[in-house]
Amino acid sequence: MGQLNPQFTDDTVIVTGGASGIGREVAQQFGGAGATVLVADLREEPKNGGTPTHEAIEEDGGTAEFVETDVSDRDDIAALVEAAHDYGGLDVMVNNAGMFIGGSILDLEPEEFERIHSVNAKGIYFGTQVAANDMLKREDPGAIINTASISSHYAQFEQVQYDSTKGAVRMITRGAALELAETGIRVNAVAPGQIATELDEGWSEEATQKAANDELVKRVPLGRAGTPEDVGPAYLYLASEQASYVTGELLFVDGGWQVF
Ligand code: NAI
Repeated sequence: MGQLNPQFTDDTVIVTGGASGIGREVAQQFGGAGATVLVADLREEPKNGGTPTHEAIEEDGGTAEFVETDVSDRDDIAALVEAAHDYGGLDVMVNNAGMFIGGSILDLEPEEFERIHSVNAKGIYFGTQVAANDMLKREDPGAIINTASISSHYAQFEQVQYDSTKGAVRMITRGAALELAETGIRVNAVAPGQIATELDEGWSEEATQKAANDELVKRVPLGRAGTPEDVGPAYLYLASEQASYVTGELLFVDGGWQVF
């Protein structure tokens, strides 16, 4: 089969949550495609150890920098986007950082609700806002890609607090795409399904058992959990010129999880 091979030489890409998991892979794929990558995260080290993402990109011959960032803090996002000016300015903003807190709606603590919404929803809203303003100020419209989820559409057990953030990501993406279309800035989202990363925490024993039994994976028509490598190319496609007529889209990369 043929292969799409978008190139991002001369482009500067920010990937939030780029230290681990999906963000790490996305950052590395952009780096491999020639982009200068700013890896933004709370921490440099991947959650499961190993070489920090920006160093891995540089070891492979690319250009990358780590920028310590808490996406729940708008000032941090502003400093991050400003840092891209050292490389000619931001072309592609990947708002990917996210967290998971499982647990029943009957007893979730208010601080936990606020924390997950601050990172997953507020972080994406302000990531989009700051990136768009910077692109417009420089008269250099680019692409914004947010990480949504199958949870943007579908409720899952003991996940109200998480699912509601991902529902917000879907509508931030669509609303921003509508408003920014006339400026030339495209805003899209990737909606991964069950991807093997270090994301999950806080589920009850019952929910953990369900996950351990692979109940979520059992209903994937393609028959397996996904990997970050499966998801990365969707970001490159949405950022590329091949997607120049695509905006407001939420692209499922889920092995068919949501088709029934
Ligand atoms: P992960 O836990 O492996 O990576 C998330 C990264 O985000 C970590 O490096 C973490 O330090 C960083 N991060 C967390 N809070 C942050 C903050 N306030 N500021 C900056 N960085 C922060 O998780 P994964 O799976 O790679 O998740 C990435 C995105 O994909 C998230 O938005 C998640 O909701 C989404 N997603 C994941 C799925 C999965 O099955 N793993 C499925 C659908 C969506």
